[in-house]
Amino acid sequence: LSKLAIFRFRPAAETVTDVAVGRDALRLLDARLPRIAKGRWFVVSSGAVFERHGDRFLKAVLRSNVDPSPLLVPDGEKAKSWPVLGRLLLELTRRGLKRDGGVIAFGGGTVGDVGGLAASLALRGVPIVQVPTTLLAASDSALGGKTAVDLPAGKNLVGTVHHPRLVLVDTALLQTLPERVLRSGLAEVVKSSFLDLAFHRAFPRLEEGLAMGKPDALAEGVLRSLRMKARVVAGDPLERTGARFALNLGHTVGHALETASKHALTHGEAVGWGLLAMLELSVARVGLDPAVAERLSERVVRLVAPPRLTPRTLSGWVERLASDKKSDQRGLRAVLLAEPGRAVTLQVTAGDLEGSLARALRKSMPAGPSRS
Ligand SMILES: NC(=O)c1ccc[n+]([C@@H]2O[C@H](COP(=O)([O-])OP(=O)(O)OC[C@H]3O[C@@H](n4cnc5c(N)ncnc54)[C@H](O)[C@@H]3O)[C@@H](O)[C@H]2O)c1
Ligand SMILES: [Zn+2]
Repeated sequence: LSKLAIFRFRPAAETVTDVAVGRDALRLLDARLPRIAKGRWFVVSSGAVFERHGDRFLKAVLRSNVDPSPLLVPDGEKAKSWPVLGRLLLELTRRGLKRDGGVIAFGGGTVGDVGGLAASLALRGVPIVQVPTTLLAASDSALGGKTAVDLPAGKNLVGTVHHPRLVLVDTALLQTLPERVLRSGLAEVVKSSFLDLAFHRAFPRLEEGLAMGKPDALAEGVLRSLRMKARVVAGDPLERTGARFALNLGHTVGHALETASKHALTHGEAVGWGLLAMLELSVARVGLDPAVAERLSERVVRLVAPPRLTPRTLSGWVERLASDKKSDQRGLRAVLLAEPGRAVTLQVTAGDLEGSLARALRKSMPAGPSRS
């Protein structure tokens, strides 16, 4: 995979997302942007990302109609706030965004979420192009169209579905990721490998390269994750049939842990524990072969290395399950794995999830340091 891999999918009627993954994918921007919108483009990024990779980015859009000074949002989750969204919208109109223009989100998942929301609201919606710079954003959040900001009551409580016209993953950008951010993103790649049989089978060949953050392994891992997600999203664009729910594997427990830890755990670390818990429950409830569960657990421990959970990190996590945005009248649902590539959704109780995390905790003593 030393050259670019490109595919196209239709997440909804009359909506097309082009996806390109590989080294130097940024160079496609100049040719692609004017085909999407001929007017002026604006870049949303964070200071930390733009300081590191802004020069590369600007060089790639030299001949395009892109405003060279980015609209900067705070780094990390702080970007996903109502005031930041408001400022983005004011700034976009002040700088003269027109209906024939567009927005490029250049950063991690936080930049993609708030940038995408701003693009979907400005002038009732202008095109968004996602250029993810974290592995989580590259392998997961940049594709699928979900945009969001947070409210005091919880994460992602305000948002729209606004599919990107282009998702461009340049693996060179991922080379500067801190170890912990890389591992957090690997949780989504590992999750994808559980949901897709071909990816699962290819995994042993990729595992070492992924663990070391090698560009070619990352490119293939990202590409396989995005293809899987594209297939699922295209089958359930508005999240009506429940098919898309499978992408939440590990996330019911993961979100509860992430919130209860007050984000001492990263999203990926929390999802890592969620995956381990779901493998336990899958053996008990949907007949996942224990030997396979064991191998998949090792994959999580090796690549995500979720840190040991301290009583402080754990406190209150079960109560958090009830406030899961995806729970409804019928209670909690969890995605289980009958076998690699075959997910099953089941009604579960908080007790089921608590018991399976406890079993996973007893079994694994992941190598990572403990965080509290
Ligand atoms: N829309 C969706 O479908 C979806 C799906 C999953 C997650 N999300 C959202 O994504 C967000 C998390 O995204 P994230 O993990 O990318 O976090 P993030 O955007 O906060 O980035 C993590 C850190 O990495 C740094 N960083 C980014 N690119 C870098 C690079 N190339 N080199 C070095 N450092 C770099 C950032 O400065 C930041 O400090 C959450 O808010 C979550 O809700 C959205
Ligand atoms: Zn996730």
